[in-house]
Amino acid sequence: MARIAVFNQKGGVGKTTTTLNLIAALAREGFDPLAIDLDPQAHLSQICGARVNTAAESVYGFFRDSRPLMDLVRNANAGWEVIPSHLELSKVDTQFGKGPNVLNRLRIGLEREQLNGVRPVVIDCCPMLGVLSLSAIFAADRVLVPVSADFLAETGALQVEKTLNALQRVLGHPVQRRYVITRFDGRRKMSWEILERFKSHFGANLCESRISETVAIAESPFSSQDVFAHAPNSRGAADYRALFEELDSAGFFGVRRVALPEPAVAYA
Ligand SMILES: Nc1ncnc2c1ncn2[C@@H]1O[C@H](COP(=O)(O)OP(=O)(O)O)[C@@H](O)[C@H]1O
Ligand SMILES: [Mg+2]
Repeated sequence: MARIAVFNQKGGVGKTTTTLNLIAALAREGFDPLAIDLDPQAHLSQICGARVNTAAESVYGFFRDSRPLMDLVRNANAGWEVIPSHLELSKVDTQFGKGPNVLNRLRIGLEREQLNGVRPVVIDCCPMLGVLSLSAIFAADRVLVPVSADFLAETGALQVEKTLNALQRVLGHPVQRRYVITRFDGRRKMSWEILERFKSHFGANLCESRISETVAIAESPFSSQDVFAHAPNSRGAADYRALFEELDSAGFFGVRRVALPEPAVAYA
């Protein structure tokens, strides 16, 4: 079952935006996705209308109080399910050490509660490589790395590649990964140069679909919506749809779609 960590230790590259729109695409296509907000900034929880008042109601309740993950699941505005975050989640990085117990806790929790059974799980990571992000990568069987098409992004992306390669040795298995270029502005010559460099760095692991820098994607969070609901005919919606389809046909979500109900028979 696909458990996907959306990770890059650089901030502002489109992790939360990509998590939101992939979850929305999965839900629209008849999958039954579960999002986990593992960023103490709780942007995803905020955008999708699942902000909680106390840390105990967030995924922090799982780490601190050993609450079952299932008890923490909320409905997002759009109907799909999410385990929200809270600012206090940042304490996980200092409170519980860095040993295998805390790093494996989320993986074990997902497996014990069989949350990874028939539904894809997508984890929005925070922009640093600490206990939280490592827990997400340990819990995931695939990593999706959004990389923005700007000058500093290349160094950051190469660092992610190095980190994932090092983690493979710790985990004892390959970490399947895909890189996706976000915030692409085709009017800039630099964007095309960066694209070529990413192609040579990541080869087949670089998604062919790219996400353009668009007003619709930038504005959709203001209306607490994914880009498909906010601007269904926009370039941004088309880009995220194409990314979803590319990943789906490559088996990245690893699940068969939930059968849609038979259409109601109309009797005369
Ligand atoms: N393709 C895009 N076009 C326009 N704005 C974008 C795009 N992707 C992300 N943004 C905006 O950039 C900011 C950072 O994106 P975000 O997804 O929060 O990054 P991260 O989670 O990696 O920190 C947000 O304000 C978001 O709305
Ligand atoms: Mg984010």
